[in-house]
Amino acid sequence: METSLYYGLPRFCFTEHATPLEYAPRLSEKLGIKLYIKRDDKTGLVTGGNKVRKLEFLMADAVKKGADVVLTTGSLQSNHAMLTCAAANKLGLEPVLVLKGKEPARLQGNLLLEKLLGVRVHFVDAEEYREVYDFMEEMMADLQAKGRNPYFIPVGGSTPLGAVGYVAAAEELFQQAGEMGLNVDYIVNAVGSGGTSAGLEVGVRLFNKSTRVVGISVDAEKSVFQQEIARIAAGCASLIAKSLDIKPEDVIVIDEYIGEAGYGKPSRAGNSAIELVAACEGIILDPVYSGKAMGGLIDLARQGYFNPGSTVVFFHTGGIPAIFDLLQDQKF
Ligand SMILES: Cc1ncc(COP(=O)(O)O)c(C=O)c1O
Repeated sequence: METSLYYGLPRFCFTEHATPLEYAPRLSEKLGIKLYIKRDDKTGLVTGGNKVRKLEFLMADAVKKGADVVLTTGSLQSNHAMLTCAAANKLGLEPVLVLKGKEPARLQGNLLLEKLLGVRVHFVDAEEYREVYDFMEEMMADLQAKGRNPYFIPVGGSTPLGAVGYVAAAEELFQQAGEMGLNVDYIVNAVGSGGTSAGLEVGVRLFNKSTRVVGISVDAEKSVFQQEIARIAAGCASLIAKSLDIKPEDVIVIDEYIGEAGYGKPSRAGNSAIELVAACEGIILDPVYSGKAMGGLIDLARQGYFNPGSTVVFFHTGGIPAIFDLLQDQKF
């Protein structure tokens, strides 16, 4: 596969076209805003999602460095882990995963897809997972001793290089918005490890300074993600030779929608958002990320957080496979 260059960085193009920017008329009317959905659930690997954009740069870096095996890690239903395997297979590299938790008797969602992708998965229980990076360093050393050239991708692909994928996404969005005559007041997205938000923060500063990025945490508290996003964004900006001053206090993260059961578990507000968006617009969100982020957007709109009539772009970041694992026993 050919690479192209983005700000001098090699990139594989895993998605042939810009992802659609769709107006959501019935939801807009209900919420008193102009709501558009950026369909990053339609990026080009397997079931799509935001991780594909990060992998365009991370995998190009792996190939540039002559890697023949790619290792990454995440939760049992990690979308990033599954999509890394798909990208690795597409490029002829061997994927290796270390996932947090016990192997379930019945494989569902991303675990089932990983099975189909033929991936070697190491399951590590929650207690031992605290040392996961040490464990993976040992795995890398073993591979090197066998003459292999491993490439490691940290959790969520949320490195400064991965975040460049969302600088490119911001550029794509503002190009589409310009063609449609829109001025985007807000972007709303789910925050799981911070790379998506970091790239968007850099992107709005480069391409449309008046847009505010509102991150809805699905995991850690606000201050943790503000620090993390500012850190990744600073690294991301310097990779593309821009010096931007992004302070943690300038990053908007709202941590009120993580849900009663915490990360990785459906929430009542998230499930209601999934139902509402499906009924109004025929679009399916996931219970771990995009459903909770949309639950937050709906609540914020109802509280008057966005000025009436504002143009709000919701990034649908994918996550569809988890539905088949997590929503089976939920009451709707
Ligand atoms: C479907 C989906 N949406 C959103 C996110 C959050 O993105 P980020 O990890 O870049 O914050 C993730 C991953 O964590 C994801 O898999």
